[in-house]
Amino acid sequence: MKICNVDVVKLKEQFGTPLYIYDKEHLKRNIMLYLNNFKSKEFDTEVLFASKAFCIKEMVRLINSCNMSLDVVSIGELYTALSVGFPMEKVYFHGNNKSLSDLEFALEHNVGTIVVDNLMELIALEDLCKNKNKKANIIIRLNVGVEAHTHKFIVTAHVDSKFGVIYNSNDYKEMMKILKDSKNITFKGFHSHIGSQIFDLDAFTHALEKLIVICKDFDKPLVLNIGGGFGVHYTDEDKPISFDIVSKTLINTCEKALKENNVKIEKLCIEPGRSIVAEAGYTLYTIGYIKKTPNKEYYFIDGGMTDNIRPALYQAKYDADIVGKENELKKHIVTVAGKCCESGDLIIENIPLPEAKPGDLLITYTTGAYGYSMSSNYNKALTPAVVFVEGDEAKLVVKRQSYEELIEREI
Ligand code: LLP
Repeated sequence: MKICNVDVVKLKEQFGTPLYIYDKEHLKRNIMLYLNNFKSKEFDTEVLFASKAFCIKEMVRLINSCNMSLDVVSIGELYTALSVGFPMEKVYFHGNNKSLSDLEFALEHNVGTIVVDNLMELIALEDLCKNKNKKANIIIRLNVGVEAHTHKFIVTAHVDSKFGVIYNSNDYKEMMKILKDSKNITFKGFHSHIGSQIFDLDAFTHALEKLIVICKDFDKPLVLNIGGGFGVHYTDEDKPISFDIVSKTLINTCEKALKENNVKIEKLCIEPGRSIVAEAGYTLYTIGYIKKTPNKEYYFIDGGMTDNIRPALYQAKYDADIVGKENELKKHIVTVAGKCCESGDLIIENIPLPEAKPGDLLITYTTGAYGYSMSSNYNKALTPAVVFVEGDEAKLVVKRQSYEELIEREI
C-alpha cells in the first residue's frame, strides 16, 4: 500500500508505529477546493481553517502558504500560529470563556478579529481596550437556533447551548448598546456554527438566511461567518457532498437571500476544520496479539483511544485495512482494540478484515481530524509521531514523544 508515492511499510520502518500519516497532496487539494469555489462577485469571501481539527506548526505553515485564514480557539493555538509567523490579521479568535489574559494576549499580538461569545466577555474586552488603549475588531457569535442533525454531543445551536447569544435576547440588546458607544471596539458582524459532521446542506442555508435577515437591522454591510461542520466520509454509511458543491451552494444561497432581503454584506466566511484534514489523514498501527473470546475475535493494536478518542467519545465509526492484504477476502469479523486499561478502548467493532498475524500493519482511514488534536497520555502512552507525505518524500513534522518528555514537567 502506498500513500502518495511512499510505501507504508517503509514509513513503519523509518518512523515506527503508531504513526499519524498525512497525504499532503490531498490536504492541498482540499484547501484549494474551498479557496477556488467559495467566491462571489457580489461580496468578499474568506475561508478559515478551524485549527482545532489539527493544529501543528507544519499544518499552519501549509494554510499560510495557500493564503487561507485561521480560526483559533485558545492561546495555545494562537501561540502555534505565532510561532510560524502566521499573519495575525488573518486570525479569528474564538472561545466561550476567554480569560482577561487571553484577551490581552490577543490584543497585544493584534489578532485580526475576536469572536465574542457573550455579554460578560464583551464588557471585559471593552474595559481592557480602554485601559490599554487598544482597538479591536469583533464579530459576535450568535445562537441562531438551528439544530443540525448530528451526534448530540457536537450540536451547538440548541437554545441552551453554551455557545453564543440569542438574537434579540436581553444580553444581545445590551451588547448592541455597548458597541454603539464603544470607541475602541469595531463591530464587524456575526458568527454562527451549527454543529459538526453535518451532511444536510439545508441546515447551513437555513442558518445563513437567518443571519441575512438580521443584517437588515444594520446600516453598514456586515461580515458573516457561518462556521464549519461539513461532513466527511469515515465509512460507507457517510455520504458527504463534495466541497466545491458545498461552497457554491452557500454562495448561491447567500446571493439570493441578499437580493430578496435587499441587504448587502461586506464578507461571507466559512471555517471548515474536519473536511480539510480528516480524509487526508491515516493512522498506522502494528498488530500485537490476536485473541478469540466465545463471541469475538480481537486484533490488538499498539495504539488506541490515546491516539483516537473519537470511537469511545462519540461512537465514531472507522474503516481499516491490513496493509498488503487490502485485496484479500475479508472473512474475519473482528474488533480492533487498543492497549489502554479501559474496556471502551475499541477503535473499530465488528469490521470484516482478512486474517492477520502479529506484526502485520493495520491502517485506519479518515483519522486526520480530531485524532492528533484530541490525543492524550492516558496510561502514560506516548503521543505518536506525525509525518507528511508528498510525492516520494516523507517528512517528519512531529517527533514521537519520548519517556523523558512524558515526565519532564513533573516535579
Ligand atoms: N468553527 C467553530 C466555531 C467550531 O466550534 C468548530 C468545531 C469548527 C468551526 C470546525 O468544525 P468542523 O468543520 O471541524 O466540523 N471533537 C469533535 C468535533 C468538535 C467540533 C467543535 N467545533 C469530533 O471529533 O468530532
